[in-house]
Amino acid sequence: MTTEHVARTVQFKIYRYDPDKDAAPYMQDISVQLEATDRKLLDAIVRLKSKDDSLSFRRSCREGVCGSDAMNINGKNGLACLTDVDSLKQPIVLRPLPGLPVIRDLIVDMTQFFKQYHSIKPYVVNNTPPPERERLQSPEEREELNGLYECILCACCSTACPSFWWNPDKFVGPAGLLAAYRFIADTRDEETNERLDNLEDPYRLFRCHTIMNCVDVCPKSLNPTKAIGKIKELMLSRAV
Ligand code: SF4
Ligand code: SF4
Ligand code: FES
Repeated sequence: MTTEHVARTVQFKIYRYDPDKDAAPYMQDISVQLEATDRKLLDAIVRLKSKDDSLSFRRSCREGVCGSDAMNINGKNGLACLTDVDSLKQPIVLRPLPGLPVIRDLIVDMTQFFKQYHSIKPYVVNNTPPPERERLQSPEEREELNGLYECILCACCSTACPSFWWNPDKFVGPAGLLAAYRFIADTRDEETNERLDNLEDPYRLFRCHTIMNCVDVCPKSLNPTKAIGKIKELMLSRAV
């Protein structure tokens, strides 16, 4: 029988900070008894919450769809609901996503992240009157969007990106740039040029130094670096 199928005790070290009570953040050592059915890190954190109900974290879908339980797990960003708790070295060190202000414990303020996402106009712009039924794409045109549209906006990538840490107000970041390319690549969108203009700036796009931390942490196996490269190529090709 593997360890996943038995009750076991797991040790944690968790970043704690309640601005209403704590003068400064601290790391809490805590252990929890898991049941045989507890497989994922999120199961363990929910168990921890029943032991210490002051622990704050976000979660919703518990299956890698909502993106809300992104956190820094043993030094690497990821989703608690997709991480096998038994695969982690103990004590399991949990911290909030790096580079964003902490609201409380594992909850960060995502305002800057979503500001950047909204700045790329994350929707199809098409002012041509629509045909009777729908705006069609060929299978090949639709294929171009694979690997771009699946982003769940968990922010694991942008908060692992040094360029985003230093300039979160200026650099769009990997998640926003992946979304930007998703609409640039969409044949139904009519604003390709405006979208490229919007990114042609020393910071918004060109702060990416191809370090690829974003690719390494994406829980959906997406590749923002590749999308960023394609935007750069398009900018170069329209410049000649
Ligand atoms: S490849 Fe670019 S966007 Fe991705 S982590 Fe590195 S600097 Fe950031
Ligand atoms: S690209 Fe991946 S890591 Fe980044 S926000 Fe989207 S799903 Fe999360
Ligand atoms: S709880 Fe929704 S992605 Fe993990």
